[in-house]
Amino acid sequence: ENDIVSKLPLIGKKILITAGPTYEAIDPVRFIGNHSSGKMGFDIAKIAAQNGAEVILVSGPTHLDLQHSSVSLKRVKSAQEMYDACFSYFSSVDVAIAAAAVADYKPKNVANQKIKKDETTFIIELEKTKDILASLGKVKKDQFLIGFALETENEIEHAKLKIQKKNLDLIVLNSLNDKGAGFGHDTNKVTFIDKNFTIEAMDLKSKEAVAQDIINKIILHYDA
Ligand code: CTP
Ligand code: CA
Repeated sequence: ENDIVSKLPLIGKKILITAGPTYEAIDPVRFIGNHSSGKMGFDIAKIAAQNGAEVILVSGPTHLDLQHSSVSLKRVKSAQEMYDACFSYFSSVDVAIAAAAVADYKPKNVANQKIKKDETTFIIELEKTKDILASLGKVKKDQFLIGFALETENEIEHAKLKIQKKNLDLIVLNSLNDKGAGFGHDTNKVTFIDKNFTIEAMDLKSKEAVAQDIINKIILHYDA
């Protein structure tokens, strides 16, 4: 038995992480997507694995890859596929972290053939996708459930509402008002809010350092 490995704080813990954008098909060659790179979720997965956890990383389309013997990477495209993957693993995990930028809406009808540019204006009717995180919150037993919130106004209030609506233990609030934070950046400035509404504002730091802060919250949860 390796002494160093057995002392890692998340040994024996299984963590489900969502990452990246989702792509919602319009027709066979087009989709609705977003600019999420997947970096935040992949960094969390890497740090979790380095701390001894067994990780299931469910990711939407991204150029990133992660090779680690304790990380199992499941690639999906749409919100529905991400939902199905998450539900197949959730009952077996201790912790779930929703870092994906899931599309809120998808085309109501997907065309079987490539849509031709016949009309001068074109309307696509959208319907809501399933809220993966809220659905996990509904069925959770003793899983530690962590969500993200991306807000541009009344950030704290909106994030608190998401904690309640989705039955979360912790939310990682991403404020787009902060320069150098969020999409397309390698840095992030987050505020942690727990289910008791205890607020902790963190400094601007690399996404990898934010990932370490999130993992530290999980370690603290199991230490307490
Ligand atoms: N989320 C999810 N499934 C969705 C939408 C969001 O799992 N269909 C998760 C995200 O991964 C994130 C959290 O819910 O952890 C919050 O996402 P966010 O976009 O900030 O909030 P929404 O609940 O989608 O509400 P809105 O976009 O209207 O602010
Ligand atoms: Ca959303």
